[in-house]
Parts: sequence; C-alpha cells; structure tokens
Amino acid sequence: MQKILVTSALPYVNGVPHLGHLVGCLLPSDVYARFMRMMGHEVLYICGTDEHGTPSEVGAAQEGMDVYDYCTKYFLRHKATYEEFNLSFSYLGRTSSEQNKELVYHIFSKLDENGYITEKSVKQVYSIDDGRFLPDRYIIGTCPYCGYDKARGDQCEKCTKVLDPTDLINARSAISGSTNLEVRESKHLYINLPKLEAKLSDWVKTKEPFWPDIAYSIAQKWLKEGLQERGITRDLKWGFPVNKPGYEDKVFYVWFDAPIGYIGITKQWSDEKPDERDWKDWWLDAKNLKYVQFMGKDNVPFHSITFPATLLGTEENWTFVDYLKGMSYLTFEGGKFSKSEKRGIFAEDAVKELPADYWRYWLMSNAPEASDTSFTFDGFASAINKDLNGVFGNFVSRVMKMTASKFGEEVPEAAKFDEIDDKLVLDLKEKTANYIKYLSDLEFRKAFSELRAIWVDGNNYISATEPWNVIKESPERASTILNICLNLIRIYAILSYPVMPAIAQNILAKFGLTVDDMPSLNGFEVGGQIRYFKTGHKFNVGDPVFERITPEKTEELKQKYGGSTNEV
Ligand code: MF3
Ligand code: ZN
Repeated sequence: MQKILVTSALPYVNGVPHLGHLVGCLLPSDVYARFMRMMGHEVLYICGTDEHGTPSEVGAAQEGMDVYDYCTKYFLRHKATYEEFNLSFSYLGRTSSEQNKELVYHIFSKLDENGYITEKSVKQVYSIDDGRFLPDRYIIGTCPYCGYDKARGDQCEKCTKVLDPTDLINARSAISGSTNLEVRESKHLYINLPKLEAKLSDWVKTKEPFWPDIAYSIAQKWLKEGLQERGITRDLKWGFPVNKPGYEDKVFYVWFDAPIGYIGITKQWSDEKPDERDWKDWWLDAKNLKYVQFMGKDNVPFHSITFPATLLGTEENWTFVDYLKGMSYLTFEGGKFSKSEKRGIFAEDAVKELPADYWRYWLMSNAPEASDTSFTFDGFASAINKDLNGVFGNFVSRVMKMTASKFGEEVPEAAKFDEIDDKLVLDLKEKTANYIKYLSDLEFRKAFSELRAIWVDGNNYISATEPWNVIKESPERASTILNICLNLIRIYAILSYPVMPAIAQNILAKFGLTVDDMPSLNGFEVGGQIRYFKTGHKFNVGDPVFERITPEKTEELKQKYGGSTNEV
C-alpha cells in the first residue's frame, strides 16, 4: 500500500464549470482516485476553487457583491455541481482560506530569506475612473495590425498578435469603458527563477522516465529558453496582502497562491479532524508517497516550472509532483468550447438533461489525451446508445430477464465449465489485466476501449452459447451459462465503478451488494470472481440500467445548447 496524493487543477471560482473543465482535470482525477482506492492504496484527493485575481473583483462588482461573498456563492455552485457528478474529493477547499494564507506567508518568507525574491519598479496602466490598476487584458482598444476594435492589451484575439497595452489605439478600460488612463510606476516583487534554474533543472532530470511527453517537453523547452523572473505581486485589493514591509497595500498574484492552495486545502482538510489527519504527512518529509497532478495543458508550465521552483526555493522538503497528466482541449461541435463565448454545455445543465454517468463515460472514453477531441451531440448520443445501452445495458437486462423467467430471480447453479467458458475467462483475464494497466498508466482512452471490449465479449458469449435454446436439451448447461453471465454482470459493474460509480452501484444493488462488497483490484482474480455467487443468491431484475437517447432528445439538446446552429 502506498500513499497516493491526487490533485485536480483548481477551477477559477468566477463562472461555472462546463464539460471542458470536467474532462480537463476534474473527471480524470476522480477516475484515477477511485481506481487507486480500489487498488487498495491510501488516497488523498484534493480540489478546490481558485478565488483570487481581477476576474473575481470584476465579477463581484458587476453583481454588486462583496468579493468574498461572491466567491462563496460561486464556490457553493461549484460544490453542488461536483456532487452531482459524483466527484469523490477527500476535500474541496478554497484558495482564499486562512490555511492557505498561512502557507503562502510561510513559503514567501522562506523564499525571501533564501534570497530568491527581488524588487523591481514597473510601469502599469492606471484607470482614474475605476480607481485601480488595470491588468493588460482589462485594457481594450483597436489592434494596430488588423484593426479589430476589441483587441485586449495582452493579445489581439482576431489576428493573435501579442500586444503591449501601449500598442492599442484608443485604449480604454474593459471594466468601465473609460479612456481616462495613465501610466503609473509601482514597485513589485519577483521570484528569481534564473537563480533557481540549476536546482530546477536537476529536479526535472530526476523526473524524466516518469513524466508524460508533453509535460516533460514543456518543462525542457522553458529551461532551454532560459527562465525569466516572474512577478508575484499585484495592485489589487482582493487577495492575500503581501507580508513584507512596504508592500502591505499589494496582494500576491493569483498564480502564486493558487498552487500553494493544494497544500492549503490539505490543511483545511486536516484542520477539520486534527486528531486523525495531518497535512504534513502528505506534504512535508512525506514517505512512500506518489503525487499525481491533473490539469489542462495550458496549466502545465505553472505546475512543471513555477510551482516546483517556488517549493525548491524554500529549501524545505516538500512533496513534488511525480506524474503530471496534462489534457488537451475538448472542442464543442467543431468550435471553441468557451465559457466567455457561452458556447457549450455547462456541467450543471448537463446533469439535468441526462445522468452524470453518461457524461462521465463519454468524456473519459473520448478524453483529449494525445490531441484535442470534439464533442458533438450526435457522437455522444450514438456512443451512449451503442456502448452503454446496446452492449452493456442490453447484456445486463437480457441475462437477468432470461434467468428470471427460466429459473426465478436467483443465481442458478454452475456445473463444470466447457471449453468456451474457459476461453471467456481467459480473455477476460487478459483484458482485465490490460484495463488495470492502462488505468495505472493514466491511459484513459485505451482503458475504456478495453472495458468496452470486455462488455462486447459478454454479448458474444451469450449469442454463441444460446442458453435459450440449450435449455430445451440441457437445463444444467443453460444454468451454467446464465450463472457465468450473472457473475460477469457483477464483474462488469466492479470494473466500471471508476468511470460510472452510480451505474455500478445500481447494478450491484440488484444483487443486494454495495461498494463495500467489492474486492480489491490489486490481485483481482478473474478465475475466482467468475465463481463469486453461491447458487441461489437472490437478485432483482428491476428497471433497465440505461435509457436510449432518442433522436428527438438529441435534437432538443442541439437546439438548447447551440450545437447545430451557432446560436447559444
Ligand atoms: N484556475 C486555473 C485554471 O482554471 C488553474 C489553477 S491550478 C492551481 O486554469 F493549482 F494553480 F490552482
Ligand atoms: Zn489584430
């Protein structure tokens, strides 16, 4: 048994998560955490909301709310959605917590003591009417290259040119529209990454065999280009005030305190039950621990470079990431899946339309791993109808109904296995081993395509053995076949649990079983599991496990969420 620390990137609190967030970090981390628990490991699974930064201030102002209350409102909305999706966090916390503040102060002080903090004077745009400094992307104006009139101060979205706010023609505040702007000089604190480069590069080298390609190559690319000093303070009100004389009116930059949030949230978790839990067991001088992070690929540089460098600079023995799973993007009906453009389906709406497990299954079996993948309602409906309803669900209801009508709602007796039965078990052994290996390696698409193949084998087995015909000649043989099929159903439910926890529980319940009755996947022995049920074990056919998504429903979803048309 090992300690497995799993973190999902912390979604920004402002706004609500959509399917892209789910597949980018929330679902893969949940599937992995569930799987590792089933492997018998001690898992700590941490997530939370990323709450600081200008967008929260601006969002709160728009809703006429206090910033902290605004964050609480959206934190609760995230929490409710995550519960609907059955995300099995050990703790869902907040980066604005007191615990995180304590850790940020500690880490910053260490960096400062060790000489990794520098001061610089920088020029920034100040909006007189808004009474605040404006971050680059909150300044809009006309792009000098293409003439687009809503170009942002950091980049023109139309022609993609990277800009400086001073390049913009007719620059104005994105918050108020005011052109009453001026450039002011102000002092800021920087983390001296160049000074940490040697340490960082040594650390990255130790990770070579373990990191997936994209994380390792991004880290290498940054190192090769040479690291720059990075600003870690901002002129905002909302955030942790900087704990250094002369800087009290500034706050730490959101990307400085957010990853420290993983630790801060762990402390929130342990503060709830201080007699039983200690955050340090997971983060400081931790032994026999593997740390796996999940995030969208745009987050990779922060997790493979800046955050490790921050921890290295403390010269304390923190837990560093061992494996970093960076996901590509999910596009929506061929376009951009974007919160700001309101294209796509929000997670909280998705579960109102169809069960969470349908989304979980589709998103994970089509996870954007090597490259981006596209969500379409047609593809989604077809996968649910074919894989879940047609293959898995059909097997469950066919076997249960047939058994019930021939032998009653109890598991009939198994006699000696035939050759075809042994072959089924042999194939199942091999595929289960592959499935477990793929999940251990965080190869989600491969894992769920293997799972689908396992269900297909069950269907092929019952078609080939034809218990409904065999029963006329040999009730004993039909009874054996159906016994095997009922045992398969239980095994399928167990194997499906990481990705479809609610469906799995529903199937187990048909046999009077719960998740506590599931065997460990570590040393999962197919030969024994296929003979799990004692003759006469009661089951209950009950309702079908899945429902088809009709063409009418698919059309309705497209209409509502802007699938086929470009409207929202
Ligand atoms: N809020 C960021 C995003 O959604 C992710 C922050 S991950 C953290 O892109 F670890 F830094 F919190
Ligand atoms: Zn442009």
